[in-house]
Amino acid sequence: MKVVQETISRYEEGLKVLDPFCGTGTTALCAVAEGHRATTIDINPFLTWLARAKTSAYCAKSLAETERAGLAALALARRRAIEPAPAPKIHKIERWWPETASRFLGYLKAAIVASTTNAQARDLLRVAFCRTLIKLSSAAFNHQSMSFKDDDPQGQLQIDVDTDAMFLNDVRFVLRGASDNPAGRAAVVQGDARDLPRLPDGDFDLVVTSPPYANRMSYIRELRPYMYWLGHLASARDAGELDWQAIGGTWGIATSRLNAWTSRNDRWLPDALRGIVAAIADDDNANGELLAAYVAKYCEDMSRHFDGLRTVLKPGARVHYIVGNSTFYGVLVPTEQLYAAMLRQYGFVDVAARPIRKRNSNKALFEFDVSAVWPEG
Ligand SMILES: C[S@@+](CC[C@H](N)C(=O)[O-])C[C@H]1O[C@@H](n2cnc3c(N)ncnc32)[C@H](O)[C@@H]1O
Repeated sequence: MKVVQETISRYEEGLKVLDPFCGTGTTALCAVAEGHRATTIDINPFLTWLARAKTSAYCAKSLAETERAGLAALALARRRAIEPAPAPKIHKIERWWPETASRFLGYLKAAIVASTTNAQARDLLRVAFCRTLIKLSSAAFNHQSMSFKDDDPQGQLQIDVDTDAMFLNDVRFVLRGASDNPAGRAAVVQGDARDLPRLPDGDFDLVVTSPPYANRMSYIRELRPYMYWLGHLASARDAGELDWQAIGGTWGIATSRLNAWTSRNDRWLPDALRGIVAAIADDDNANGELLAAYVAKYCEDMSRHFDGLRTVLKPGARVHYIVGNSTFYGVLVPTEQLYAAMLRQYGFVDVAARPIRKRNSNKALFEFDVSAVWPEG
């Protein structure tokens, strides 16, 4: 967030800014706050919904309606005066939420829809619902694996928290954020950055983005609780499919797809990649072949993105990719150098990779700002 803000604040206001990897919408929010117009893209429908909710302007009427409908929804849920929404079809859901929590969430989800027809109020209440559902979850997320605070196969855990007060607090928290309207409008587009969709406000002056890193982090995996409850995912297979669509995803079915993946032999892939991929694929590395394919596919995907990017930039446009490097079996994947090579090959000039900060205790891991200019004329 800080890096994005600092990067954008270096430019005069009034630019058309693009973030092709939206996530929760940080760049778009910073850009409109600094007086620019912003367009942002993500492949994940939950994230584009959330970014839209975060970057929308809310009138006093919608805010008042959100408060009224939130109270009405709680009253409906408490009286059970409504057909509850079914709990998501998650294998062993009782490991994620105690049965009492799932039941409360089912009633609340249905009650939100029944309590208002105002689309903005529904969105804000759903954002509050997301905050509540994650607090009620027994699943604690950390980087690579999911653990459970308690394992109760019967799902009989009692919730010793006041769920009504929790949701109400979350509604008020969301309302405080929503009443601080963004200074300008952002367009949020669901699409694939490898195949840039037709974009409103094309011909961009500035790209500031934090793309997926080549580190096997799955955004879908982390976001599953919300995505299941809001209906963006119906099954584990869906989750794996979406992760396969995302750049850098290797979770669930995405792993077996990767096993079968072969390169399109993109002529633009940097030469340096060949040695890196061969070193990772070494016979001594247990999953070497798979991870070598992972890195090669990651680069091919980013190469497709850079190729398409050229078509949506104004001459003189500047781009900033905030990205971290990674290692596999001790082999360094210098993502910043690979980006720099791809950008040069596609005709960008003034290409530079500036280290910004260390990522963690691993001495080799850094984050970089890879910047470049799309040439004039
Ligand atoms: C590092 S995150 C972005 C973080 C963001 N700066 C934020 O504020 O949350 C990378 C994002 O890229 C998205 N993504 C992955 N593959 C994509 C693709 N092919 N097209 C568009 N977005 C993609 C992921 O869903 C994820 O939200």
